[in-house]
Amino acid sequence: MKTVFSGIQPSGVITIGNYLGAMKQFVPLQEDHESYFCIVNQHAITVPQPPTELRTNTRRLAALYLAVGLDPEKATIFIQSEVPEHARLGWIVQCLAHMGELERMTQYKEKSQSRTEAIPAGLLAYPTLMAADILLYGATVIPVGDDQSQHIELTRLLARRFNHLYGDLFTLPEGYNSPFTARIRSLQDPEKKMSKSDPNPQSYISVLDTPEIIRKKVKRAQTDSEGMIHFDMEKKPGVSNLLSLYSAFKRISLQEAETHFNGRGYGALKEEVADAIIEDLSPIQERFQDIYASNELDDILTQGAKKASAKARIVLEEVEKRIGF
Ligand code: ADP
Ligand code: NA
Repeated sequence: MKTVFSGIQPSGVITIGNYLGAMKQFVPLQEDHESYFCIVNQHAITVPQPPTELRTNTRRLAALYLAVGLDPEKATIFIQSEVPEHARLGWIVQCLAHMGELERMTQYKEKSQSRTEAIPAGLLAYPTLMAADILLYGATVIPVGDDQSQHIELTRLLARRFNHLYGDLFTLPEGYNSPFTARIRSLQDPEKKMSKSDPNPQSYISVLDTPEIIRKKVKRAQTDSEGMIHFDMEKKPGVSNLLSLYSAFKRISLQEAETHFNGRGYGALKEEVADAIIEDLSPIQERFQDIYASNELDDILTQGAKKASAKARIVLEEVEKRIGF
């Protein structure tokens, strides 16, 4: 059985980009994989987080994992900082990586360039901790959006480097995604990806947004002046993004979505995209409220951390032995 690992940062709202690109893919994977789904709070502090918000967002994200359908009987669900093996292997991987390799990462360049404050060293080291997250479980299936492909490639490089220096241990991971949901675009600037850290909340939809807000945001989404609905990400990124959303939320192909809107206008497209999003998210939002309020959530996370740690310890001990600890 193959092993799947993925994590999402509890660093704000969870957007429909995170949902389609990552979280929604977790659910079917848990059926036939050894599964580890993590709330990566150590990644989140690579940019400063207000402590109370971080704690709340961590618990909310855990509740959302369960609300979308992750099942603690089938998947190990845990908080990264509660499994100390992540930080321990993270340090070792950091010592394996080269400065130049980390400085080349697009996400680091974007995040560091857009900062007006000092750049935390953790922002540079981020992909080495992510490599540790993956390698601790021998995971080969990594459902993530395409902004993470470069980090997965780096994980492969670092795993190969370790194997070469200390003998074969790590299997090489691969990304996992569908081409149309790996990069959901900003509603306001469809050249860019949708991101929870975008300062303009009109640019993203939170998985927990109310139906009214979802309708408003979709209505204001940027399109173009052509007035024809067809998929062309280069020339019509706004309309194409809406078509991708429609097909993903309706679980139909892009071609079926295009056919559905053939000859119709942008008003109809936006209305039906909003309907599709609301229809998919409403039951999740209902379950979320119940789960978030229950004590069961904390037990699930405690049990998850125990299980994850038991698995991770085996790999970490082997790594430490090989490097001479
Ligand atoms: P963000 O990039 O929104 O700050 P994270 O870094 O926590 O969020 O990413 C969580 C997961 O969501 C990752 O697998 C990432 O690749 C995926 N993801 C983020 N934004 C998008 C997007 N716009 N489209 C598809 N997947 C995305
Ligand atoms: Na990201």
